[in-house]
Amino acid sequence: MVSYPARLKLAQIPTPLLPLTRLSKALGGPKLWVKRDDLTGAASSGNKVRKLEFLLAEAKAQGCDTLITSGGVQSNHCRAVAVLGAQLGLKVHLLLRSDTQPQPVGNLFLDQLVGATISHYSLNEFRDLDGLFQYWQEHYKNLGHKVYSIPTGGSNGTGAWGYIAAAQELAEDFTKQHIDPYAVVHATGSGGTQAGLLLGFHLHQVDCRVISYAVCDDQAYFAAKVADDLQQWQHKYAPDSDLTSLEPSTIDKYAGPAYGVASADVFDTIKQVASMEGLILDPVYTGKAFHGLIQDIKQGVYAKQHDRDIVFLHTGGLFGLFAQQHQFNNKK
Ligand SMILES: Cc1ncc(COP(=O)(O)O)c(C=O)c1O
Repeated sequence: MVSYPARLKLAQIPTPLLPLTRLSKALGGPKLWVKRDDLTGAASSGNKVRKLEFLLAEAKAQGCDTLITSGGVQSNHCRAVAVLGAQLGLKVHLLLRSDTQPQPVGNLFLDQLVGATISHYSLNEFRDLDGLFQYWQEHYKNLGHKVYSIPTGGSNGTGAWGYIAAAQELAEDFTKQHIDPYAVVHATGSGGTQAGLLLGFHLHQVDCRVISYAVCDDQAYFAAKVADDLQQWQHKYAPDSDLTSLEPSTIDKYAGPAYGVASADVFDTIKQVASMEGLILDPVYTGKAFHGLIQDIKQGVYAKQHDRDIVFLHTGGLFGLFAQQHQFNNKK
């Protein structure tokens, strides 16, 4: 039995696990499924809501009234914190990274709508992110507030619980749907979903691989980041556990030109999946990962799993799609 720490009920779960029948047929196998974690909510949707159930419970337990977090200008994580912070009556301050004058669209529009305080920083200024956090923590402390700081993507030992719990939910889905999937495949960005899933399948004794398609950075980065999150979790919650068998499996060859920048074929995949299955992916995370998965299937990487089930974890990102919708106008 896994003993969970305090948790707020913020996510609409369990999310559906649905077959992608037409796409699987068109590819000639494996049988693809989608776990709809894009449906954990409306304005506060996506994978971050699961992590925030535990992070915000900790913030509340510590009596904090102010949340500080960080991310890219179109961060889904920051938007989820902004929306949930407003729902819980907490002040939210976002530290956002952008090198151009940001347009108030997509996630940023929602951040503003729910009244988050926003500080914009250049890529260069963001290099000292710890310093920026310290500056604002001090600022709010001097005003008599109690701050809870959440790292980029909500990825740390506490946030890992979100996908430990999701792994348990997936195991229940597999039993109900009578499937024994080869792998759960997903987009990895700050490594927290990856760490949580790996840990979750291990703790719940589910024999299922976690295959993570990077949307930025490389394999070595994710090996170190996941190890760090696992170590934090172990140190805080289970010092006697043995996690040496947990090896992240990251595919970094579809990360594309840069974080948040996708090549034309990713937009083509988004269009294809949208029209074939009514499934909406985004160009920053899920579109890149799903594109990578389809390319690998076409190239025979999953040939031995031809008759097996593969579950794509849809981690959200819809509002980021709207921020890049002009990219579709340039294409047929
Ligand atoms: C839509 C979406 N998918 C995937 C990810 C990656 O999750 P993680 O940061 O836990 O690696 C993110 C992170 O921001 C996201 O917003």
